[in-house]
Amino acid sequence: MPGSEEFVVTPYEVRGRVDYDRLREMFGTQELSSELLERLRRLAGGELPPLLSRGIYYSHRDLGALLDAYEAGRPFFVYSGRGPSGPLHTSHLAQFEICRWFQERLGVPMYVQITDDEKYWSRSGLTREETVRWGTENLLDILALGFDPKRTRVFFDSKSIAALYPLAIRVARKITYSSVKAVFGLEPSANIGWIFYTALQTVPAFWPSWAEGKSVPCLIPCGIDQDPHFRLTRDIAEGLGYPKPALLHSRMVPGLLGEAAMSTTGASPDNALFLNDPPKVVERKVRNAFTGGRATVEEQRRLGADPEVCSVWALWKSRFAESEERFEKITADCRSGAMLCGECKGLLLERIHRFYADHAAAREKARSWAEETIITAPPPGRDL
Ligand code: TRP
Repeated sequence: MPGSEEFVVTPYEVRGRVDYDRLREMFGTQELSSELLERLRRLAGGELPPLLSRGIYYSHRDLGALLDAYEAGRPFFVYSGRGPSGPLHTSHLAQFEICRWFQERLGVPMYVQITDDEKYWSRSGLTREETVRWGTENLLDILALGFDPKRTRVFFDSKSIAALYPLAIRVARKITYSSVKAVFGLEPSANIGWIFYTALQTVPAFWPSWAEGKSVPCLIPCGIDQDPHFRLTRDIAEGLGYPKPALLHSRMVPGLLGEAAMSTTGASPDNALFLNDPPKVVERKVRNAFTGGRATVEEQRRLGADPEVCSVWALWKSRFAESEERFEKITADCRSGAMLCGECKGLLLERIHRFYADHAAAREKARSWAEETIITAPPPGRDL
């Protein structure tokens, strides 16, 4: 989507100071209202996870209709994916954590897509070996979040192509070159793999319906930057006899150096916390992170700091503040000047180190079952 003067958000670029409400209006999506959140809380039982309760997920398409169907006895599945261009960073986990939450609370199946082809086409600096290696590594990080091996399946594009292709053929016929160009703004020099790619990102949204021969609703949690892909998906769904997927969109978690997103495309690696960063590197990155602090200690004690612009506060908010009370206390102590940035960073580092250690252990366990989750053949009787 071509952005306004001040910011740009497309699946291939996030730049500038993003006005998320404006972006929602530009994309024409709905606000994730407190009524809908309350409804989710009631259906799922227990508390909402921070990603929902703290407004990181903030926009949707047709979530209400999906929940209506669910309450009327039509279960859905969740689908999300990852373009493997390097190690995952902490903000990449958001979409998968929400999927895991839906799976845990509602018992729904999860489909993950690993797009090693997409990144090979869209990033000229990557080799095939690299995108496949990162895909394999990223998948372990995703599965380690606690997905149920019995209810989790993976499309690893290059390994799953036989399973995807019969449906991709049909999808591709419905998507015109001019709509791809209008939605992604690809340059004339873009390779044709990249132009075709969006067809493959649509396929998992329809795959269970195709496999089961009946309409199975789909919910796609993703960063709002991915919405353009799924506008195409939704436009063609009914023409192919499949339900339009519902979407749940998040804001991008800001980078450690104050960038709009925790991306390192064109930015320093210090802008993101990679899941494979050793503790020393994590420490350095957090210590150097951009904050909303004042120029001097004296001033900060007197005037307080500004959490809204702080990349460290954004990390507390997205996952690391384990309870609402803790989150509120950190925010209040920051605003009042009671806690200085150095102390705040020290507390956050404790949380991050613990999270990394737990994650590393879960990741090793996921190794034993990751390969088996990959779908390699079309559903029985559907190889055409
Ligand atoms: N295009 C996404 C990326 O660059 C990967 C992806 C594939 C995806 N399918 C998805 C993301 C579904 C969100 C939801 O990372």
